Amino acid sequence: MRSGRGKMATPPPPIRPAAALLLLVLAGVLASAASADLVISKADRRVDLTSHIVRVLASLKAENVGPDPVSQVLLPFPNIQAKNLAAIRAFGSEGKVKGQSTVLPIEVVQPSGAPPELTFFSALLPKPLEKGKTLYLDVLTVFTHSLQPFPEEITQAEAQLVVYQDSAHYLSPYPVKAQTLAIRLPGGRVESYTRHPNAKLVDSELKYGPFHDLPPFSYLPVIVHFENNNPFAVAKEVIREIEISHWGNVQITEHYNIAHGGARLKGEFSRIDYQSRPYVRGVSSFRHLIAKLPPRAHSIYYRDEIGNISTSHLWSDSMKTQLEIEPRFPLFGGWQTTFTVGYGLPLEDFVFYSDGKRFLNITFGSPLEEILIEKLIVKVVLPEGSKDIEVSAPFPTQQQQEVKYSHLDIVGRPVVVLEKPDVIPEHNLYFQIQQHILAQRAVDADYWFLPPVCGLYCLHAY
Ligand SMILES: *[C@@H]1O[C@H](CO)[C@@H](O)[C@H](O)[C@H]1NC(C)=O
Ligand SMILES: *[C@@H]1O[C@H](CO)[C@@H](O)[C@H](O)[C@H]1NC(C)=O
Repeated sequence: MRSGRGKMATPPPPIRPAAALLLLVLAGVLASAASADLVISKADRRVDLTSHIVRVLASLKAENVGPDPVSQVLLPFPNIQAKNLAAIRAFGSEGKVKGQSTVLPIEVVQPSGAPPELTFFSALLPKPLEKGKTLYLDVLTVFTHSLQPFPEEITQAEAQLVVYQDSAHYLSPYPVKAQTLAIRLPGGRVESYTRHPNAKLVDSELKYGPFHDLPPFSYLPVIVHFENNNPFAVAKEVIREIEISHWGNVQITEHYNIAHGGARLKGEFSRIDYQSRPYVRGVSSFRHLIAKLPPRAHSIYYRDEIGNISTSHLWSDSMKTQLEIEPRFPLFGGWQTTFTVGYGLPLEDFVFYSDGKRFLNITFGSPLEEILIEKLIVKVVLPEGSKDIEVSAPFPTQQQQEVKYSHLDIVGRPVVVLEKPDVIPEHNLYFQIQQHILAQRAVDADYWFLPPVCGLYCLHAY
């Protein structure tokens, strides 16, 4: 690899040994690992490296050139990448031109003859792609922990540099006729990038390709070493309690333990330096986080171990309520802080009733922007007497039930506990909890500030 050099003479970033190994392995992979009936006539990938969460959108045009219908598209990833994959979604549409896409179910598969160094996913087509037909497929993948700080330790005034590795060729079990790769960088310094003949850096976009007529499993490593000072906000654990209260309210309480997951701070921290020129003497640190709360959130508070913090800013419109959370000190690499955010939401926006059933429909993830949560625990505290509880979530979660007692309770309130590792903003989707209400409670309807009709939502519930 030849490297472009910036002003500063830092040594070149290390190549992960696994990447080099992979090359050898892939050279030996037979195209027979997959059914060879598909040909990718065009593959355009866009990689977004502007935050610490890496998003890759691959837009594929596939043709069935074989004699038999094809019912799945295989999507392989090197294991070193797959282990950091937090979300994968595929949208497909069949036809001569790209039309309305549908979401395709995805599963992990193990095609016979597949090398153990690769993890295969399969996107299942709603109906088999017949001979000669074309499929448009968009695959969104989101990776965590894929920007490696290099150097690993920096001083207070230094910018944070990170390394990203990928393949300039789209890794596919099918032949690929034409393809491009575009990598969007956050702006700022680009220390180096792999200079393949058709590499081009324009402003903050790095392009590779076009490449033509590549065989299955082509792999061409690229490394980019660049400046990224965006908040690497990583929560080790978040506990999010959603309590359906008796007072016409849904009460949310979120406990955070957040660290700056980027390059660690070395040397002394000088607050005087920082305060005189925070953007220079603390360029890699972050001092606030934005929480996007639902539009009618009220009674919002934010506190840490010491007490309420009133310096946070709040503004709202009809679409959202935005809270700026400002910890007591800026966060540098390796530093952490714990705090609690609480707010109330109107019951009628999230809880619906029909046929003696109560139905909660609310978002799963944290309202904090661009945060990675290594372990998210969502606890939904239901009113006393809730029975036959059913949970429906758009992704797998570990589920269990507890009971919570407060002084007015007789039998205690059922608590549904949902746990999920590696939660990213893409997981901030709606989930539902449906319960039977005991007769006695159903009679108490007024007490619940019930909306008179639940409209469309009821239809969705069953
Ligand atoms: C913090 O604010 C909350 C909500 O406004 C309030 O209930 C609580 O008493 C306050 N706590 C302190 C220590 O001021
Ligand atoms: C949950 O609420 C969202 C937003 O209002 C809505 O788009 C979605 O259809 C609802 N889901 C169900 C199952 O009712």
